[in-house]
Amino acid sequence: MRAGQRRTEFHEHSEALFLTSSFVFDSAEQAAARFSGGEEGFVYSRFTNPTVTMLQERLAALEGAEACMATASGMAAILATVMSLLKAGDHVICSSAVFGATVQLLNNYFGRLGIQTTFVSPTRVDEWRKAVRPTTRLFFLETPSNPMTEISDIPALADVAKKAGALLAVDNVFCTPILQQPLDLGADLVIHSATKHLDGQGRVLGGAILGSNKIIMEHVFPFLRTAGPSLSPFNAWVILKGLETLELRMRAHCVAALEMARWLERQPAVARVHYPWLESHPQHALARRQQQAGGAVLSFELKGGRDAAFKLINGTRLISITANLGDVKTTITHPATTTHGRISPEARAAAGITDGLVRLAVGLEGLSDLQGDLERGLS
Ligand SMILES: Cc1ncc(COP(=O)(O)O)c(C=O)c1O
Repeated sequence: MRAGQRRTEFHEHSEALFLTSSFVFDSAEQAAARFSGGEEGFVYSRFTNPTVTMLQERLAALEGAEACMATASGMAAILATVMSLLKAGDHVICSSAVFGATVQLLNNYFGRLGIQTTFVSPTRVDEWRKAVRPTTRLFFLETPSNPMTEISDIPALADVAKKAGALLAVDNVFCTPILQQPLDLGADLVIHSATKHLDGQGRVLGGAILGSNKIIMEHVFPFLRTAGPSLSPFNAWVILKGLETLELRMRAHCVAALEMARWLERQPAVARVHYPWLESHPQHALARRQQQAGGAVLSFELKGGRDAAFKLINGTRLISITANLGDVKTTITHPATTTHGRISPEARAAAGITDGLVRLAVGLEGLSDLQGDLERGLS
């Protein structure tokens, strides 16, 4: 809550918002020294900004990271990671159960630049081991995955990555550092879409990359400074305020989501519920080893397929039909036609995303109100 705070001469209690694109110098000599890096200090907000720096230091404290760079969005964080650490000819091994835009970025854009990606099962460590090539530089995964909540074994995959001479990057969006600290579990990099729980109220886009000083300051920072997908100070300030309640919100989200998952399991129209804290989840034991709780997101399959899924979604009055997640307001979405609509039907089937699947990101409204809202479409 207080990590990274920098007070100005006015002694403000709440963190200041520095809405300025550039910073002034006392002299031409000082400008030269700041630009060359000979003197520390702020220059231009594409490079650094005090509000953004406060957010970076606070996030680094939460993740137990040496360094953090904030980015304009979660996708900008993934873009910056690959652009700053890989080159043409390098190879990425990525979980097949990652956010749709991450798949697009790796396949369509990095593929064009000569960086190849092999997609493997999020849960089968042997597939990662077998996919290793002499050119493999990066392992990338989300755990729990979106929307199936599959759990990847971070320590086991960190071991495989280390032996392969590759870095392991974990997208920690679903858990946040409150529930899971990937660096402690052996990962080299943590990626965030701050758009989700870190803000927590669906207001702004943001992202972050965390890791060692060497990786972040020698590789990621120079890329961001040059290419420009940096975080706006206004968004950084909103996310800083969000972090103040992150732990409380996450605890409440997890209690509500588990109760909702158990309730959904009892509904006759529901074939299956995917939520890591349910005993029926295939990686429940692993989830309990590496997470503090199950998170806010669950998905469930309706026996009636796509028609039943659309009926349920259209029947809601309270829950928001939107692709975002990690908000205090509950959101509902049909992954096969929205977030994962652009990936091939084969890849979707391999990831288990059926037409009857619905994703619910459980917010902080009264649970009985939420259940009442879903009952209409389930009956
Ligand atoms: C797990 C995960 N990673 C990354 C992203 C991308 O983040 P952003 O929308 O902030 O670019 C998302 C967005 O939904 C996500 O769910």
